[in-house]
Amino acid sequence: MTGTALPPFPFPLPTEFSEPLSRALHRLGPFACRIMWYPEVTSTNDVAAMLAERGVEEGCVILANAQTAGRGRHGRTWTSPPGAGLYLSTVVRPRQHAVPLLTLAAGLAVAEGVYAATGLEPRLKWPNDVYLGDCKVAGILAEAGSSDGGVPHVILGVGINVQATAYPRDIAASATCLETELGRPTDRGLLMTECLAALALRYADLQDGRSGSVVQGWRQRAAVFGRTVEWDAGGQCQRGIAENLDETGALLVRTDHGVDRVISGEVRWI
Ligand code: BTN
Repeated sequence: MTGTALPPFPFPLPTEFSEPLSRALHRLGPFACRIMWYPEVTSTNDVAAMLAERGVEEGCVILANAQTAGRGRHGRTWTSPPGAGLYLSTVVRPRQHAVPLLTLAAGLAVAEGVYAATGLEPRLKWPNDVYLGDCKVAGILAEAGSSDGGVPHVILGVGINVQATAYPRDIAASATCLETELGRPTDRGLLMTECLAALALRYADLQDGRSGSVVQGWRQRAAVFGRTVEWDAGGQCQRGIAENLDETGALLVRTDHGVDRVISGEVRWI
């Protein structure tokens, strides 16, 4: 990413976002420091990574109305037409002990932010997919890097489906959006504010050594426990019943030969 040009300049934040944010600045922790708005970018994660490499302050938020190359986990595309979603990325520089649970904490914070802004009760699919019923409404893409001075950072990219749009065929049946679930328009400014406020709390939990609170919060919102899941390990498809999340963030799955700890990759519901 080094050497790539930044988009020309951020635009003034629309009042849709600035008004709810200004009322909540005291709850936003590091995420109150700088919020940069662009009508369109390739990916907010790209812009955040360029800024992080240049040493931007922790908590800087990049927010876009549209992405031309939004991306998800496992190389997927994140459909990002203008105004149809919340597309944002932020730069964090977590302490080493906070890194393992960071993406789970981000998914939990988004679920909590969606609840605070809409009253909907999202559930979490390991590690950090946010679901309403059996359909995905939001996801987190965490990308690690380091600045010129070698200081490590993580870009946390958050995508939330707000308005119905044409999702790629392979995910259309398992995707939803807030407005479909609510049956009314969603206030994106309030949604963003509540997600950042929840992220501020969960990030502080991790940084200050309260990871147990994050694990407990994740368990309470888990959608996967008791369900049959499949995942790939060592080139083989494994299958079992998801039972719990351990203190390190691994998913514990009961199989025919005992309890497996799933620590990476994708878990599929059967
Ligand atoms: C996933 O569930 O696969 C993760 C989706 C993450 C999408 C967001 S939208 C904002 C940020 N920019 C990107 O290109 N991706 C993330």
